[in-house]
Amino acid sequence: MRKVPRPDASPALDRDDCERSHRYQALSIIVPTFREAANIPALAEGLHAVLAESGIEWELLLVDDNSNDGSQGIVAELARRLPVRLVVRRGQPRDLSLAVLEGIRLARFDRLVVMDADLSHPPERIIALLDALDNGYDLVIGSRYAPGGRVDRRWSPWRVLNSRVATILAWPLVRCADPMSGFFATDRRVLPDPQTLHPLGYKIALELMVRGQLRVKDVPIEFRDRTLGASKMNWRQQLNFIRHLSRLYLYQFGGVTCVLCFGLVGGSGFMIDVACYLSLQWMGVEHRVARFLSFWPAVSWNWWLNRGITFSKRRQQPHARQWLKFVASSLLGLGVNVGGYTVLTSLVDVFARQRLLAFVCSVGLGGLVNFLVANLYVYRRHTASTQSAERSPGSYSTSGSS
Ligand code: GDD
Ligand code: MN
Repeated sequence: MRKVPRPDASPALDRDDCERSHRYQALSIIVPTFREAANIPALAEGLHAVLAESGIEWELLLVDDNSNDGSQGIVAELARRLPVRLVVRRGQPRDLSLAVLEGIRLARFDRLVVMDADLSHPPERIIALLDALDNGYDLVIGSRYAPGGRVDRRWSPWRVLNSRVATILAWPLVRCADPMSGFFATDRRVLPDPQTLHPLGYKIALELMVRGQLRVKDVPIEFRDRTLGASKMNWRQQLNFIRHLSRLYLYQFGGVTCVLCFGLVGGSGFMIDVACYLSLQWMGVEHRVARFLSFWPAVSWNWWLNRGITFSKRRQQPHARQWLKFVASSLLGLGVNVGGYTVLTSLVDVFARQRLLAFVCSVGLGGLVNFLVANLYVYRRHTASTQSAERSPGSYSTSGSS
């Protein structure tokens, strides 16, 4: 397969030779798959067409989440003529990012390209990605939003908006025009220790860029919608993205994010609180009783979101016990909150007239108490936090790599 001398083939390489041989380092192409039997042959042929011409030694490594759709038979057939193999992940939750990490671990070569199976990512752009990688970058993104790149013309305005908003949300984390892309080239030797990675769902490139503090370059691509098989993107993945993003914000901006998240969650709970408080009064419930009752749906909402988002990396405790602790801490907050409300509306003229203002101030005070107790008690940290694990490149298996 290999047509071009490897870097170690000649003891005395001049500069041009070095550059060329660097460029032609062997390549593992990692493709996560779930029910992509229909796309695998065209993908393998497309890669062969591009890479045979370039002379780069390559392998296509499909990491499949036990699709049971005949992919294995198709790959066995293809493997007679092309460097294709498929590994099946079993007994673990189905997850695109984890499949890619498994691929990175199992790849024959250090130089990697990650792409989708459905031909959304044009194999013809691989050489451009590798060229950029050779120019001193750690990770090169096949970018739909760099000048010259584009998304599929058939995308609905809703999909365009969705993708744009997701991209903008990630901008504070990384200097990259398309951090959501699933098409990228990198080198295993510059990647962070897999122990320090905590991806969730689709955005493995974002995870690597942020936690690895990698030097990133955008290379434009034209993204094409799949023609065969179905997308696996769904609402669950969208929620996973929000959770993943909050983890990365927490990692990057630390405690500030925690406070911000807690505040945002509190804000959303506050809206539920207000809605219930007003609705109950509208139904004829006395305002102090309404104040008391509206607390319960709001507190449960807050507990659930803080568990899933704000403190998602903290020690996971049984739901019921943690909910009780959160309720206890919130009752403390409620004591400050309702106590404050009662004191303010009974003793201060302006608040007696402006009950909603008293409501807001007392919620703020109660929230502060809540945050402190939640942070230190309800969602307390692991004893040995995985977050503090040091980055140590090179801990992927490199046996057999070039
Ligand atoms: N192993 C494994 N496990 N593979 C999966 C899983 C999974 O749970 N879910 C999806 N895949 C594979 C698919 O088989 C496909 O090869 C690739 O991951 C992308 O999945 P699609 O279902 O085609 O996703 P998409 O087109 O909506 O999303 C792509 O474009 C997005 C940008 O619009 C991906 O590249 C995303 O990463 C990207 O953000
Ligand atoms: Mn797709």
